[in-house]
Amino acid sequence: MKRTVIVHPDPQSLAAATASRLVTALLDAQSTHAPVHVVLTGGSIGIETLRHLASSPALPAVDWTNVHLWWGDERFLPAGHPDRNETQARAALIDHIDIPAANVHAMAGTDLTITSPEAAAAAYGEELARFRGNGAAVPDFDVLLLGMGPDGHIASLFPGHAALRAGGLAVAIHNAPKPPPTRISLTFASIYSAKQVWIVCAGEEKAQATSYALCGADVDTSPAGAVHGSQQTLWLIDAAAALGAPGLA
Ligand code: 6PG
Repeated sequence: MKRTVIVHPDPQSLAAATASRLVTALLDAQSTHAPVHVVLTGGSIGIETLRHLASSPALPAVDWTNVHLWWGDERFLPAGHPDRNETQARAALIDHIDIPAANVHAMAGTDLTITSPEAAAAAYGEELARFRGNGAAVPDFDVLLLGMGPDGHIASLFPGHAALRAGGLAVAIHNAPKPPPTRISLTFASIYSAKQVWIVCAGEEKAQATSYALCGADVDTSPAGAVHGSQQTLWLIDAAAALGAPGLA
């Protein structure tokens, strides 16, 4: 599996550069096809990237009417809860762009109709299928963003969890080691379908997991090491996360 690793000086330059890279990827994609599908991630660097995107001078060049936003995972909390990835993404970016509400595909929160993460995962799978690409089970994701935890998790796919082997398009997560424990996540199959997968991580606490993932660890101990895009897999990291990674520091 070919992976490209790009090291940035610090978390802020990483978030800013990733935002610039995303603007360019959006513009390139929408110059050749519509709609364009992007999968967002939660986590500190993922949300900071969205904040930088919202303040990008090139942002007005993006035609959001044909861009669809999805999530790689979500915390199973009531809609509007401050800990939801959707809530944080709306504050960081979505509330600042002119994107049709129907183009923002949030994973369900706990409400009267969705009372379990299994129901939320099933509903998301149906939404993904409604926008599937030609011959695919999910939309043609142009860029799929992922953060990575210190344990090597990506989205809400954690080492040693049964969800690593889940079929389908989205899966319910219980007892996640990162709070909150109940979540929804795309499955690996959905993630692998993306043209470009970008793993964005910063900080010394990610150095061991980064090194382990880049050294070809197995999926059970390093979900991050297993992910790849169908066309490109980018590791966008800062110098602290690169410490100890082979040939990087
Ligand atoms: C979540 C995220 C999760 C996150 C990583 C990295 O819902 O928590 O999707 O996968 O991206 O845990 O988070 P940090 O960037 O905050 O370390």
